[in-house]
Amino acid sequence: MAMERSSLASLFAGKDTYLLPFAVKAHQNTKFRIRTLLSHCLYRRVIFWGIVIVALLCLSLTTTSRGDTLRRARLLELTKQHGGEDAGSIPPDKVVVAPEPEQESHPHPWRIDLPSWLGFRHLDGYFVGLKALVPAKDHKPEFPLPPNATYPFPTTLHYTGLPTPTPFIVHPDYESSDYAAEYYPVSPCYLDANKTIPIPDIYAYNGIPQGQPNPFMGSHKVLGLRDDVCFDRFGRYGPYGLGYSFDEGGLEVGMDTESAGSEVVWERTGKINYAGIDWGEVQNRCYEANKQRFVEVAAPTGLFPAMKTKTVVQPREESAPETKKKMPRTAVVVRAYTGFPWSAHLILNLRALISELALRSGAEYDVHFLLHVRDDSEPILADPRTVQRILDENIPPEFHGLCTVWSEEQMRVVYPGGFKRVFSNPARKDIYGVYRSAHFALQYFAFNHPEYDFFWNWEMDMRFVGNYYELFDRLGRWARNQSRVGLWERSSKYYIPQLHGDWDNFTAVVERDVRASGRPFVLGPQNFAGREPLLLEQEGQSFMPPSCAGGANDTSCGVGEDADLITFNPLFDPEGSGWFFESDMAGYDTSLPKPPRRCSIITAGRFSRRMLMAMHEEVWRLHHTAFTEMFPATVALHRGLKAVFAPHPVSIDRDWDLAVVEKTFNGGRDHTTSGRGSVFNSRNEHNHKGTSWYYHSEFSGLLWRRWLGYAEWDGRGPNGGKAGEGTLRGGREEEEMPGSTGRMCLRSLLVHPIKWEHPSELEEEDD
Ligand SMILES: *[C@@H]1O[C@H](CO)[C@@H](O)[C@H](O)[C@H]1NC(C)=O
Ligand SMILES: *[C@@H]1O[C@H](CO)[C@@H](O)[C@H](O)[C@H]1NC(C)=O
Ligand SMILES: *[C@@H]1O[C@H](CO)[C@@H](O)[C@H](O)[C@H]1NC(C)=O
Ligand SMILES: *[C@@H]1O[C@H](CO)[C@@H](O)[C@H](O)[C@H]1NC(C)=O
Ligand SMILES: *[C@@H]1O[C@H](CO)[C@@H](O)[C@H](O)[C@H]1NC(C)=O
Repeated sequence: MAMERSSLASLFAGKDTYLLPFAVKAHQNTKFRIRTLLSHCLYRRVIFWGIVIVALLCLSLTTTSRGDTLRRARLLELTKQHGGEDAGSIPPDKVVVAPEPEQESHPHPWRIDLPSWLGFRHLDGYFVGLKALVPAKDHKPEFPLPPNATYPFPTTLHYTGLPTPTPFIVHPDYESSDYAAEYYPVSPCYLDANKTIPIPDIYAYNGIPQGQPNPFMGSHKVLGLRDDVCFDRFGRYGPYGLGYSFDEGGLEVGMDTESAGSEVVWERTGKINYAGIDWGEVQNRCYEANKQRFVEVAAPTGLFPAMKTKTVVQPREESAPETKKKMPRTAVVVRAYTGFPWSAHLILNLRALISELALRSGAEYDVHFLLHVRDDSEPILADPRTVQRILDENIPPEFHGLCTVWSEEQMRVVYPGGFKRVFSNPARKDIYGVYRSAHFALQYFAFNHPEYDFFWNWEMDMRFVGNYYELFDRLGRWARNQSRVGLWERSSKYYIPQLHGDWDNFTAVVERDVRASGRPFVLGPQNFAGREPLLLEQEGQSFMPPSCAGGANDTSCGVGEDADLITFNPLFDPEGSGWFFESDMAGYDTSLPKPPRRCSIITAGRFSRRMLMAMHEEVWRLHHTAFTEMFPATVALHRGLKAVFAPHPVSIDRDWDLAVVEKTFNGGRDHTTSGRGSVFNSRNEHNHKGTSWYYHSEFSGLLWRRWLGYAEWDGRGPNGGKAGEGTLRGGREEEEMPGSTGRMCLRSLLVHPIKWEHPSELEEEDD
């Protein structure tokens, strides 16, 4: 067996571990040619029809607006024809901030056959550009307006040129004496082996364009995210290759957009040449240089059970007693799959993820790609050359060194034994399929990577305006500071600051509603008919921290304890909610009532190692599982793990009445998202279409592409944006027009889903 392992391993040229099943390193130096990939029509067509089929499937489940394809085709036509408009006669030192000429009389008479929110006026302050930047203290949001305030537009501003962005630093000051007193020194990381190219910083503008709407849910302040700066496309992505050509080492995107004053972002570093970069190598070098900062771990367990397991602990470099704090490490696990349509903009996003989280932090994070090989007949466990071929065909070479492949067939082997009965399987899909059990591969990844304490599950169609380190780090800190008392209840409710007050007010609001309902607070492991203990519970241990000895009376319970699960949508009780998959639970005793459960839509989030190991055991030993979005939260509920919904800022495209927001989004049991009346009922989910974060949101793409500088067919008409309605807005001509406020600048914001970015991606779909 050992022989077999080493001869197999030797095929990897220097890589001596092969986990899940193979972490393969690219050794060729082929530069990735985007143009070649993008203009490969047959390939694109296959992907296009794949997308169409998926879209049709989705259509049958959700209320997607019709005419989407038509609208896209029309957009393309318009993009081609658009010749620039009458510039008007506003002198260039005076900007009239008047977000949208097209003003529906509002509220529009509500129509029976359409969702009532279509009657709310559009918000257009998002599209006000950099030239209207004001200091945060002078910012007047278009939404929500304080009681009795008047609509702030039009506003006339005088400006004397473009503002200048500055580096946006969110990492700890590793050079400071405070840091040095507490932690091991951080060795700065570089893009090249000769240490000549430091990891660049992104740039932010100090202020906010006048009128920019505030988030309607969630809060920068509560989470500790800066809310007084904004980001344009060049400050965000310029350091990673936006805005300059292949010849200069860039990605040759963004050069077709308005770009006045953008050169500032390259002044200190020059335009960084990314040609031939190998992120796996860069990331490894960074870790090697910073090893001593982190807790040592046992070598990973092997793939084959028989070979298990010499627990090799790396020898300590110094024998002196530890005087400084060691840090835990976190993996960011990007979920990729074969056949995914890559684009230059996606590459920018992933470079940002790696640079900000793994490199600029001195290896506190590692980024991994967990590549789902969809063809189960591929012998990925047997032949490394097959794996290399799959990488060559599916992943840009610069990321090969970060890839781990897996298949559903492999999950059948990892989790054998069947799952007995299922309460229901509305999707009629295989239990081992990624659709119902995306967590299997993540669990097994964690099992094979004991060096990480935390795992962010991340998807390819998510983007972040802002710095990823700020987002992930602040969410983790905020979650650690949360008390476990009332946590399930707070996490089941959308936080609307303008209605609920600050976080302590919100906590009080939730407490009041719980008391009024007469239900007890949910705290600690749950009992229910048919409950089976985990091994750790059999041994009399528990996931509850010592601070919880006082039960629900002591709000210090769980404060200072790292969260086991952090989600980006509320953790709701699906029982009776009408959420489509509420009963998709397998392997539990179906003759008993369904166990209590929780769920959070969208699988992105942070998992602790013990969370994933509890899920792992539920699956391999107890043969329990549940629908992808329900299983993690349900295990956390049953076992008493600390789960929390982080109220990240979410924007909305229309001027909703806040009372209607509360009634709609917190319309379930006890003014939450749970149970009857839930906004996650399949008939209520449409309310998310105008938000910046939901799996079928339409506004997220519109906002993101306009921020990137491309014209968008703004079809947010009273009928919800059907073909031929609305206006073409934004893009180069509009942003460059005299009197225009220029390009957009948004405060930090997560957007999802982003299915395409550059207009040419549509062109190729339509080929
Ligand atoms: C808003 O206006 C209404 C009537 O015009 C008045 O009753 C109310 O007190 C005002 N609210 C505030 C906060 O000024
Ligand atoms: C790195 O430095 C070495 C020694 O100074 C030099 O020979 C080599 O060419 C450098 N490599 C690059 C890529 O600049
Ligand atoms: C921790 O949470 C408490 C209670 O909400 C809050 O008052 C406090 O400011 C928080 N501390 C930090 C550092 O966020
Ligand atoms: C929030 O709590 C503070 C202090 O308890 C109180 O003065 C304030 O009115 C509350 N705000 C809201 C919106 O409930
Ligand atoms: C919590 O407080 C209530 C009333 O103040 C009391 O009845 C109960 O026993 C307390 N629970 C614990 C666990 O201390």
